[in-house]
Amino acid sequence: MSKVLIIGSGISGLACAITCASRGINVILVSPFPSERSQSVLAAGGINAVLTGEDGDSIEQHIKDTLKGGCDIAGEKAVRGMCSAAPDIVRWLESLGTVFSRDSGGRISRRAFGGQTYPRTNYAGTATGKQIVTALVMEARRLEGKGLIERRYWTDFYGALIRDKVCYGAMLYSEATRTVEAVTADSVVIATGGQNALFGKTTGSTQCDGYAAGKLFSQGVDLKNLEFIQYHPTAIETDRKKMLISEAARGEGGRLFYEDNGSRVYFMEELYGAKGNLMPRDIVSKCIYETGKQVYLDVSFLGKDKILARIPEVYELCMKYRNIDITRDPVPVVPSVHFFMGGIAVGLDHRTNIKNLYAVGECASMYHGANRLGGNSLLAAIYSGRVAAGSIRDEKTDSPDWSREVSDENGRLEMKRRSESRFPVMYVRGMLADAVNASLGIVRNARELENGIKDIDYYLGIADKINFDRSELEYFTYSLEGILILAKAVLKSASERKESRGAHLRNDYPERSDAYNASTIISYDGGNYTARFVKEDEYEG
Ligand code: FUM
Repeated sequence: MSKVLIIGSGISGLACAITCASRGINVILVSPFPSERSQSVLAAGGINAVLTGEDGDSIEQHIKDTLKGGCDIAGEKAVRGMCSAAPDIVRWLESLGTVFSRDSGGRISRRAFGGQTYPRTNYAGTATGKQIVTALVMEARRLEGKGLIERRYWTDFYGALIRDKVCYGAMLYSEATRTVEAVTADSVVIATGGQNALFGKTTGSTQCDGYAAGKLFSQGVDLKNLEFIQYHPTAIETDRKKMLISEAARGEGGRLFYEDNGSRVYFMEELYGAKGNLMPRDIVSKCIYETGKQVYLDVSFLGKDKILARIPEVYELCMKYRNIDITRDPVPVVPSVHFFMGGIAVGLDHRTNIKNLYAVGECASMYHGANRLGGNSLLAAIYSGRVAAGSIRDEKTDSPDWSREVSDENGRLEMKRRSESRFPVMYVRGMLADAVNASLGIVRNARELENGIKDIDYYLGIADKINFDRSELEYFTYSLEGILILAKAVLKSASERKESRGAHLRNDYPERSDAYNASTIISYDGGNYTARFVKEDEYEG
């Protein structure tokens, strides 16, 4: 029996682990925290699937909406596969115990999300991710009981074991022993989520920091579409975080407005009519940016009963973080970095350009093109996990010996422990986030991107002089260089795409250009960052 090492135990990692184990493949599932604390539990609004089509909706329409929302660069084959599998995925989740909300006719409840022709976001209140994680964890535990899955926590990714473009496993860092070890496997699946550390304050978890993508890039793995960073239109700003107000609030009828001389201006409806508040996120965020004003979200006219029944978590969040009762008052909102359409480049089977190395979930770039539709991320996470699991070959691979590399890396860690920090690592991470926020805002241009690259080059120059800060986890220091490399790759990709499309808006190139009707692939070649453009369905590594 072959062995797969899955790094990351959120929804995509769990879906992959369960599917591999169901095929009889042995799984080692590692993550810094238990699945119950993964970013996936924050996923609020729901999962897209056309379950019955009785309202005129169809899988074909789901495909069309997804391709249009992605501004015509997502691959049709990939999107077709995902949307066609969606009904089966929702039924599978139900069979595992996911408790979806139900309507009065007993059907799974669905709501409208941005960019949808028909409402097709199936939900469990506004805690869909939490419900799905709970069901998948139960199933993983069952397979663990059968000896097919081994779960390991407090374990961080350190690097892949790659030789001659073949992956043989990964080096993992144990927070308990503070050492790295080589764990060999016949296949490795990366499921480490988004790139939140680049921006510091996002709606996501800083556990999903982008380190794995940056480190793998420096080890020869291609990355894709990094410039497409989704700003969600509605978040509450706090000192340390941006808390998501689910699109469900607008799906249920919530309206955005700003004030002008004491009167409300419902700008999205003025611009786009009745569906204005539910335009795709790239468009709503751009419109909020262009108002130049504080924007508010009002749901109070829905009435207390409906608010508490349909979006209870939104009500609680606004009370808890702003002391605002949304059954009575509007809440001030800001756009926030929320999702990364870009990530590790994969083919249709979720394999990277390195043999036996796969990527799934948000860390992989697929399905969403230049802008993801709400409700498609849970779907893509599960679908990609299942696709990768289905394409992994159940074959043994003989691994070379890695003892010298392991001893070298443990030696490097020990050296970093010996002296005091000259630069506190959290200070540098803060400066990195400042540089990235300044250069990769909702709207960007060549000057800002070049300034960002100069800043990152400076921090890359000092990265290996930064010693462990004893008041922080060692992980924060050893991961810094990979995160900086990723930041530079994002800035380079954004510089190369000289047009405006979806979530990549440039005021120096404000129009969409047919010259860029493709995905951006970036490779790292001995320190050079080289970009090229490839049609999504044609990328094979
Ligand atoms: O607004 C939301 O509930 C987010 C959902 C998503 O990103 O798919």
